[in-house]
Amino acid sequence: MKNRFLFLITLLLALAIFLPACGGGTPAPTPTPTEPPGDPVAGKVAFDKTCIACHGTDLKGMPNLGKDLTTSEFVKGRTNPQMVDFLKVGRPASDPLNTQGVDMPPKGGNPALTENDLLNIVAYVRIKQVK
Ligand code: HEC
Repeated sequence: MKNRFLFLITLLLALAIFLPACGGGTPAPTPTPTEPPGDPVAGKVAFDKTCIACHGTDLKGMPNLGKDLTTSEFVKGRTNPQMVDFLKVGRPASDPLNTQGVDMPPKGGNPALTENDLLNIVAYVRIKQVK
């Protein structure tokens, strides 16, 4: 009788230990969606056509025009999709976040830029950022 009781306890313990290990069909965690990377080489071409006038060849910004993008905390603090959204609207002088009183035009004033062009430009700006 006593042995049987011990056997039952052992069996229950074994079940308690091994059953959770089976996972019980827990679904695998969904992978975090990775950000679309963009192509910095194509981005440079597009940047040099549109953004260079105000942000300069070195991306450090022309006096009283574009801001320095190489040290921009604004750029650092945003994801690629957030950056693309920003570029679509720009930052008018009336925007409270505007620091220079000069317009950053939507798409840098080039409406022909596609969503993908903007993503490529963001990739280019990122490789030019000082860490
Ligand atoms: C006509 C001039 C002009 C052009 C062209 C232009 N920008 Fe700007 N950009 C500005 C100005 C001015 C500001 C800063 C506004 C302010 O004072 O907050 C700015 C700000 C920015 C910022 C925010 C920086 C920060 O730290 O707040 C980013 C990013 C940026 N521009 C990217 C671009 C990109 C990419 C392009 C090309 C698609 C572009 N700009 C084209 C004038 C321009």
